[in-house]
Amino acid sequence: MKAIITHRYLPRRILSLAVGSPLGQGAQVNEVPIPSITDSEVLVKVCAVALNPIDFKDIDFISPRNSAIGCDYAGEVFRVGKNSEQRWKIGDKIAGFVHGGLYPDIGSFAEYVKVDGDLAWKVPDEMTLGEATTYGVPAATAMLSLAYLDIPWVDIEHGCSGQGTQSTILIYSGGSNVGLFAIQLAKRAGYNVVATASPRSFDLAKRYGADAVYDYRTSASIGEIKKAYPNITKALDCFSEGSSAAFCADVLREGKVVTLLDQGKPKKANVTYTFLMLYTVFGRKFQLMAPLGPVFPVMPADREIISKFYGSLSTLSLDAVRPPPVTMIKGGFKEIFDGLKTLRKGEGRGTKLVIEF
Ligand SMILES: NC(=O)c1ccc[n+]([C@@H]2O[C@H](COP(=O)([O-])OP(=O)(O)OC[C@H]3O[C@@H](n4cnc5c(N)ncnc54)[C@H](OP(=O)(O)O)[C@@H]3O)[C@@H](O)[C@H]2O)c1
Repeated sequence: MKAIITHRYLPRRILSLAVGSPLGQGAQVNEVPIPSITDSEVLVKVCAVALNPIDFKDIDFISPRNSAIGCDYAGEVFRVGKNSEQRWKIGDKIAGFVHGGLYPDIGSFAEYVKVDGDLAWKVPDEMTLGEATTYGVPAATAMLSLAYLDIPWVDIEHGCSGQGTQSTILIYSGGSNVGLFAIQLAKRAGYNVVATASPRSFDLAKRYGADAVYDYRTSASIGEIKKAYPNITKALDCFSEGSSAAFCADVLREGKVVTLLDQGKPKKANVTYTFLMLYTVFGRKFQLMAPLGPVFPVMPADREIISKFYGSLSTLSLDAVRPPPVTMIKGGFKEIFDGLKTLRKGEGRGTKLVIEF
């Protein structure tokens, strides 16, 4: 089959990171074997993929040479491992995400991708595969973040909207794809949601349920949020760069900030930070930019959260958790490379780029 495969050695990736832009071509379309599956896995014929910032970061800096790239996928079940036969049959519409960018045989920017049978969800007939593929990395990250902030799955699953806890959560960069899912899930759990965004994304964050939106570009917003909501104890920082974590900590009376990148955590009394790494759900210890980067342990509880989330998503997605606005592009590998260029330039905000094969 054909797949997008990386080919930079570590020194060139480190140099790219140091100068802040990729040196030379980092990935290309290669002919590779169709992945073989274990008893717990399912082989998917990929029909649509969504693009995430991590995909170009993988190509540019993170992924070892000969890694398959791409996380989010939607497609049709092509082969089923015997332990997954109760849940899946050939031809089912399936979607989810994989740990792209680390292994030679796991990546969604390919004709076929192998996935864990319990970490995928059944796409309802009413939904297109293009829409379904947007519920990969950003939706799962939002779900895991709320779990890290001690928002119980049961409240999200059954929905406490309208009879809320009267607690308020801060979602920094609420107009991001992770942010839009987090807003919806937190609302469903009964929270007031205060989001930050730049003015062009105010309406977007509100359309997905934010009760109030403040401009993250001005520090005056910190005082305004604290005055209106003095008791916030939970924040999700969907940007996690520059001063975003400090902004979140300043807003909190006390409590916890979940960040999505591991940087910029200023000390503040009674505020703790938790860095979330979504790939822990796959139950394999791994290291980013080996042998230099951080090592992530196996975290069985993370897997259970996403397995439950995906187990219910067919119902939730039609009811209360909508996909972000999507830009659907018909094409293939060339369009994936073009889309990643757009993301690299920081363009394509307020929409999810999806390539339908
Ligand atoms: N650790 C993990 O496991 C994990 C998982 C998923 C994502 N991530 C990371 O989390 C981040 C968000 O992912 P995503 O898919 O949601 O990204 P995305 O949708 O591409 O995020 C775009 C948003 O970033 C906001 N933004 C741009 N510049 C900003 C700035 N200077 N300050 C604050 N916000 C700014 C924009 O908000 P406005 O339109 O309001 O300006 C825009 O809506 C990425 O860095 C991604 O790599 C990490």
